[in-house]
Amino acid sequence: VKRDERLRGLGHDHHHALVLARRAAVASQGDEGEAHRVWDEVVRRFEGELAPHFAIEERLLLPALDGGRHAPLSARTRDDHRALRALVEEDRGPVAARLERFGATLRDHVRFEERVLFPALEEEAGDAALDAAAAAHQRLVEPAAELK
Ligand SMILES: [Fe+2]
Ligand SMILES: [Fe+2]
Repeated sequence: VKRDERLRGLGHDHHHALVLARRAAVASQGDEGEAHRVWDEVVRRFEGELAPHFAIEERLLLPALDGGRHAPLSARTRDDHRALRALVEEDRGPVAARLERFGATLRDHVRFEERVLFPALEEEAGDAALDAAAAAHQRLVEPAAELK
């Protein structure tokens, strides 16, 4: 299935998120020093990459599904984002267990969005929401773009 080009930037982020999820899963099985290093990377990249990505989805795309037949999909998306943020913010307990849960939750979340949420957005979100999300993502990856 060909993705609407306005969702491609977010889809590109998903690829990076899946690589991070895999790193977390692998590190959860490894030695403690490596596990701590990867957890620190997870926390840093959550704030720098995942949180802004989630914000675009939540502010600009999910409202277009609320109240319609796809409303359960936007609810699930928000729940997943909350669960991932809670894992990062709790930041306590055995690091291996944190990495394992974060990795599995992030992987399942991205797969859900690619297979279920994004097709629904392409169908229902409408041009205004898709245009706004594409523009916001562009500002994220290229902050100086609007100054040119
Ligand atoms: Fe996403
Ligand atoms: Fe998401």
